[in-house]
Amino acid sequence: MTTPGKFISLEGIDGAGKSTHLNPIAEWLRARAREVVVTREPGGTPLGESLRQLLLHQSMNPDTEALVMFAARREHVVQVIAPALARGAWVVSDRYTDASFAYQGGGRGVRTEHLRHLESWVEDGIRPHLTLLFDLDPEEAHRRVVKGTPHPDRFEREQDAFFRKVRAAYLERAAQEPERFCILDSSQTPEAIFGQVCRALERLAP
Ligand SMILES: Nc1ncnc2c1ncn2[C@@H]1O[C@H](COP(=O)(O)OP(=O)(O)O)[C@@H](O)[C@H]1O
Ligand SMILES: [Mg+2]
Repeated sequence: MTTPGKFISLEGIDGAGKSTHLNPIAEWLRARAREVVVTREPGGTPLGESLRQLLLHQSMNPDTEALVMFAARREHVVQVIAPALARGAWVVSDRYTDASFAYQGGGRGVRTEHLRHLESWVEDGIRPHLTLLFDLDPEEAHRRVVKGTPHPDRFEREQDAFFRKVRAAYLERAAQEPERFCILDSSQTPEAIFGQVCRALERLAP
């Protein structure tokens, strides 16, 4: 395929189904593209993965949490995402900037104004062409996490009230940029969700 690659991010609360769909999405793209880079946040680089361990297991002030998330993201953009897009690869990331608006903004109450500054500094124009938002009721997401995660991290241990705020912030972000977001009803079966995902991918890579 000669068309330049695009950047796809997967978003949604813990347990909504992002990781489940990451590989099927990558396979779908690999059948059509020269190169597909699969990555995740926080993480995606050696430094980012070290910061991920701190973020998932060390308690910290919400502003600090936002700053560390964006520090890891800057490394990810510079080392991985921007170079991949520049050489024409497709990039699929399990979370990106929307997660900071949802978790640190909606969930923890970090001021949106601060997040907007960090967003433009850190992204430096590298924005997803498509964001798949796995939307699910927090109670159902919690049931799925409990069933599938023996050792939940600092975020996965949060209560439904936290995830209701995170979900609302995601939906607000999606309403602000409806052309970038595809909201998926994650209460369906994985097969039905993947059908919706494929339709969104076909619009991006016809
Ligand atoms: N559509 C679905 N219906 C039922 N269970 C699901 C569905 N999608 C994912 N799961 C299960 O829910 C759990 C959380 O899914 P996962 O993809 O890890 O979520 P996330 O990466 O968004 O936190 C996993 O155990 C997974 O097998
Ligand atoms: Mg996951």
